[in-house]
Amino acid sequence: MTTFVLFGGTGDLAKRKIIPALYSAFVNGRLDASFSFIGAAREALSEEEFRARVTASIETYASKDSANSPEKLAAFLALTYYSKIDAREAADFDVLKQRLHTSDANATLFYLATGPDIFIPVVEQLSKHGLVEGNARVVVEKPLGRDAQSAKDINHSLRNYLNENQIYRIDHYLGKEMVQNLLALRFANSFLEPLWNRKWIQDVQISISEQVGVESRGDFYDHTGALRDMVQNHLLQLVSIVAMEPPVNANPDAIRDEKVKVLRALHKFSPEEVSKKTVRGQYRAGAVDGKPVVGYQSEPGVPTASRNETFVAIRAEIDNWRWAGVPFYLRTGKRMANRSAEITINFKPIPYSIFGKSQGPMRSNRLVITLQPEESVQLFLKAKEPGEGIRLSDVALNLDFAEASSSRRVESYERLLLDAMHGDLTLFVRDDELNAAWAWIDPIMSAWQNDSEGLKSYIAGSWGPAASSYLLAQHGAAWGEEYVDA
Ligand code: BG6
Repeated sequence: MTTFVLFGGTGDLAKRKIIPALYSAFVNGRLDASFSFIGAAREALSEEEFRARVTASIETYASKDSANSPEKLAAFLALTYYSKIDAREAADFDVLKQRLHTSDANATLFYLATGPDIFIPVVEQLSKHGLVEGNARVVVEKPLGRDAQSAKDINHSLRNYLNENQIYRIDHYLGKEMVQNLLALRFANSFLEPLWNRKWIQDVQISISEQVGVESRGDFYDHTGALRDMVQNHLLQLVSIVAMEPPVNANPDAIRDEKVKVLRALHKFSPEEVSKKTVRGQYRAGAVDGKPVVGYQSEPGVPTASRNETFVAIRAEIDNWRWAGVPFYLRTGKRMANRSAEITINFKPIPYSIFGKSQGPMRSNRLVITLQPEESVQLFLKAKEPGEGIRLSDVALNLDFAEASSSRRVESYERLLLDAMHGDLTLFVRDDELNAAWAWIDPIMSAWQNDSEGLKSYIAGSWGPAASSYLLAQHGAAWGEEYVDA
């Protein structure tokens, strides 16, 4: 791919993630020699004004090792252009077309980092102008829809103009190093597979906690909520990779075929089940990292009586032979105690302890895959503490990836942009995956809409509402941080 066109080029996502990722790929020599970058947005900016914004974005958000060279920055800016485009103005696309030297439409990647209401008008114009013929590709950002029906409608309209293999539905969690490592861990090692099922696994926990609040996105977030913002996409994608069957090979469709089966096998909740198996919360004022923070309802852009959820915990189940009866505890929230994203596989306890009761209750073996803030895989085993007598403690077999490999860390957006440029769809979401994920989310959303009592509050800087602990405690389980020896 030689031309990268970024719709929403002046937006928040472009500024924080996409432009820095593109720049890092450039600095590390990963882009074609004839590469150029066109930012597109409604604002009437001159080329120079846009370049000034690109510079600010790189200076603020690019990683230190890529941001430090004025020569490289100048070289990147020399390949950077701006096109004022209103999605509904055909004439604006004429100008874009001239810029793109249409004979090479094949070599263009269009990235739609805009609200979903703009996707279809943009793609329609691109199609009318002959810009998405051949091998041109279109990356679409989440949220793709608000529910199953609207997601289907968007997909259907996209497919009027594009083939499925031209559509790159991005979920940036799939670009995180550890997520791909999970595939390697599961399918390039022999010892885990015999244990990876209901016979040996007690429960699976997937937790993504954030310390940030809604930042400048109060209005967007209040119309979205944690269920749509994080569970429908990032968390369910992680579930599908943890739970999938071995694919026949590592090709994109072989992997996505297996992931979609998991999403379809997720047990759909009745309204009664929703009230028993889900917890939603909203943060009140509190303190994060020792600094006072306001409650959600006092955030800019959020109505003072908002009932929107900023925290979700769910006891999900997968109805298939491998996983029947194994709870998948999912949790995500804003303004929580820590920033972390972790997958914990809790293995079943030993059937009987020969060491007697003096050892106290023993936490069983667990495999902890940490996606952030650091990347690691830890297998916790019991071992004897040195010294007299037998005192058992948890010891971690620890694979620390920052230490284990000197290769450059590639941020998820950079990896996914490069994959899209190279035509690799493996880490992008297929339409059937998206539909299956929404089909599971829909009943939860509708039950919540009809239940005005269910929203709990939690103090900013905590681990969420008490009901989230109870969700597990009633089944004899606990979140990782609740174990004394954790
Ligand atoms: C985005 C959500 O998809 O993911 C944000 O819209 C959230 O609300 C972000 O903050 C979290 O991503 P990461 O990579 O920082 O965990």
